[in-house]
Amino acid sequence: MANLSLREHATGQLQRLCRVAGLPDTDGVPSELLGQLLGTAGESRVPGSSPWPSGISDDTTPIEFSIAFDASGERSVRVLGETVSTCPADCFLTAVGGHLPFVSDRFEQVQDLFLPAQRHGEFALWYSLIFRPRSAPLLKVYFNPQVSGPARAPELVSEGLRRLGIGHAYDKVVAHAVTRQGRDRFSFFALDLSRSPRARVKLYVSHEEAETADVERAASLVPGIDVMQIREFCAILGGGKGPFGRRPLMSSYSFVEGDTDRPSHYSLYLPIRDYVPDDEVARARLLAVMAQYNMDGTQLDRALAAVTSRPLRDGVGLIAHVSLRLGVVGSGITVYLSSEAFGVTPPRRRSVLGLVSSAQ
Ligand code: TRP
Repeated sequence: MANLSLREHATGQLQRLCRVAGLPDTDGVPSELLGQLLGTAGESRVPGSSPWPSGISDDTTPIEFSIAFDASGERSVRVLGETVSTCPADCFLTAVGGHLPFVSDRFEQVQDLFLPAQRHGEFALWYSLIFRPRSAPLLKVYFNPQVSGPARAPELVSEGLRRLGIGHAYDKVVAHAVTRQGRDRFSFFALDLSRSPRARVKLYVSHEEAETADVERAASLVPGIDVMQIREFCAILGGGKGPFGRRPLMSSYSFVEGDTDRPSHYSLYLPIRDYVPDDEVARARLLAVMAQYNMDGTQLDRALAAVTSRPLRDGVGLIAHVSLRLGVVGSGITVYLSSEAFGVTPPRRRSVLGLVSSAQ
């Protein structure tokens, strides 16, 4: 890797990923927005050391890419990011106002709940920039339900949902997804900041030590979901039915206009990097899942080549998570790709095939 700034390194990755998704960065808007998301962290040198430890990625790079493969054949590219902690809560929102037609009314409706003066937990506010062909970029914000400590997370989430007009869903979410005392916890409360009937409120729950049956139960809150798809996804990518004892499986529910008492979409996130020895194995498992859904695996390889030129078996965590999105519209698979700007996690040992000595 040449000596570049984080901004230069990440901009190259984003531009190449956008090309893979059929979104050439001709107007320069994705790069410009990425620059604003990185802020002063963009000036750090890579390889080098991270200016501050973001929880977004394992090497503390404050951004993570993802590419969404939709069942319809569409692709979109996203960047998840955390702005430097010295930036006041919404200064990024003010800065991007010129480029993004976002609306902040829902943000303002819940801001006091999730951005208290005294904050706990790993983060306060994350952002996601979403780029789709033929559409204006979309901005999504993630709040941390644990920001006032774990004991207050349920009340923050139920009040947040109530203010957004979907308070009736809270008990159903708890009954399906927050059933295992202390091991199921609210992890993100997210909002699409767009004025569209499809703008989502998304609620995420992490499931420590979960088995496939636990996430099948979570998914069954959404009408019409075939839980066999969940089972198969966990088996192929995660290698079994659990328990998944390293980084947790995660569920998310999406509510769009008209979803007042139950969500219309469910997604399952599997932190694949904890369940494979290296990225070559992760890629192989992911290709198997994509084939099952009749998706073009060469697109995955193009996306991987957009973010790295290192041999896949030389590290683990380039492919950080994989998610399965299920619902009436927008079903598909999303692959989360690390920038690896500040470091690569070394691979673990693969399984070894040996001769089994047979008792004579
Ligand atoms: N790095 C964190 C984790 O792995 C947060 C995170 C980043 C995350 N991207 C994600 C969590 C995608 C779930 C899905 O937990």
